[in-house]
Amino acid sequence: MSQLSAPPLESGVVGEVVIPAAVIAARVEELARWISQDYRNKEPLLAAVLKGAWVFATDLARRLETPAQLDTIALARYRRSPGFREVRIIQDVAVPLQGRHVLIVEDIVDTGLTLHYLVRQLLQRRPASVAVCSLLDRPGLRLAEIPLRYVGFEVAEDFLVGYGLDYQERFRNLPDIRVLRNRTAP
Ligand code: IMP
Ligand code: MG
Repeated sequence: MSQLSAPPLESGVVGEVVIPAAVIAARVEELARWISQDYRNKEPLLAAVLKGAWVFATDLARRLETPAQLDTIALARYRRSPGFREVRIIQDVAVPLQGRHVLIVEDIVDTGLTLHYLVRQLLQRRPASVAVCSLLDRPGLRLAEIPLRYVGFEVAEDFLVGYGLDYQERFRNLPDIRVLRNRTAP
């Protein structure tokens, strides 16, 4: 079946499948099992980082075998000077975090700067715990140390799209994770 073949683009074309949908689904199920065991009787609050983790978080949440709440948080990252990136929360979770077990759900951890900032921010609200579940981990480009409790797959340095990951807001709806070719801008 030809799935969502991309219309012509000035830059950025989808390349080969790196992680097929069926492999993602099996791994999501495993992650959900571990999370369900670890958070039994804790009713965790899953905070999906928009927009990339949106697809992953909804699949993950529906596989959990223990009660959980699902919320979203949106961050903006911008470069003020070369090599210096700032992050800020542009849309917050809707509930107080004090005393809650918070599980941040991410699509991919790259430099780690985004999560480093987010974890620090959320800890100030005195949650019972904060942990991270990331579908993808790209440890080769890490700048900030960030403990990842649950990781779906380790990936190399290729830029990836699909299953929530975008390039200029495109390709989030592809069912597989694919390499992006001819990228000209972040
Ligand atoms: P970092 O860990 O702060 O560098 O940022 C990670 C964020 O950058 C992720 O949440 C994604 O939104 C985005 N990102 C990093 N690598 C990729 C990629 O290969 N494809 C799509 N988005 C990416
Ligand atoms: Mg993201």
